[in-house]
Amino acid sequence: MHSENINHAFLDPVVAGDQVDVYYHFGLSSADPVIERLRDVRAIVMAGSGARIDEFARTWSRMNGDAEITALPKEERFVTRYCAGVLFASHGMGMPSASIAVQELMRLVYFLKRGDLDALAEVFWARVGTSGGVGLPGGTIVVTTEGVMADLRPYRVLNGGMGEYWFDSTFPRDVAEDIVAANSSSGLKVVLGKTVAGNEFFLEQFRLDGAVCMETPETKMAWLEWIHDNGVRNIEMEGAMLAGYLNHWGFPRFAMICCTLLDRLQGDQVTATPEQLGKYSDDSGAALMAYLTSTLGPSGPA
Ligand code: URA
Repeated sequence: MHSENINHAFLDPVVAGDQVDVYYHFGLSSADPVIERLRDVRAIVMAGSGARIDEFARTWSRMNGDAEITALPKEERFVTRYCAGVLFASHGMGMPSASIAVQELMRLVYFLKRGDLDALAEVFWARVGTSGGVGLPGGTIVVTTEGVMADLRPYRVLNGGMGEYWFDSTFPRDVAEDIVAANSSSGLKVVLGKTVAGNEFFLEQFRLDGAVCMETPETKMAWLEWIHDNGVRNIEMEGAMLAGYLNHWGFPRFAMICCTLLDRLQGDQVTATPEQLGKYSDDSGAALMAYLTSTLGPSGPA
């Protein structure tokens, strides 16, 4: 872990019990009794939608002998479940929303692990989501090797008009390869690739079907071909930020697993049926669970 990048000034008095930290968007504080149930967390699994989080927690519970699921009461912003060592949390859509979830979860995990950097380094993080494929048909699962923004540069945020803060938004390659290996006999199509995180579903993903459209068929295809030629295999809206913040603290184990809903080289609109969308979501969850069971220990069939 990179201790020098951790906000010790704020976080250490919380660990010492001199100050309470309020994880406001999760409806939780470091003084809540329920926090003791989360102490043994070994993995944090995030997804955009709260319904998917609930499903993942139920599946994980079944795979772990119907282990108890603890639900945090506030669901106005993010939905959170804890079960058998895994904290499942939704993050909404896009980097502004997901960055709130990630920052509060990093603070929470620091508190849960009492600021012990070795214990923190053992926590595995994952985002499971949906994406637009680039040269891949709907239903393909992409495990991200590197998160980039729409200009193929790493994640960055504005620094009060003075410039930008830049972050390393690569994903640990060994973890990504282990996820592919854990799924080698699953029958799922799982590939490695770079992932663009757009700040917008329409404009920053070069769609022609937004209410506001700034592109032509030619500029759209030129962008898609450019990112494809540079190793991008899918487009979503959170990965570069996730990797940037986790790398900043030095977490060694994290991943992003996204199912494609469509091939953007073929079109812009998501026309998959509810059944197909349900299968895509189940498949990306299954790809993660295969890896989780291979690394977190005992479980049986769902
Ligand atoms: N999510 C995205 O951000 N883009 C897509 O095309 C599909 C899902």
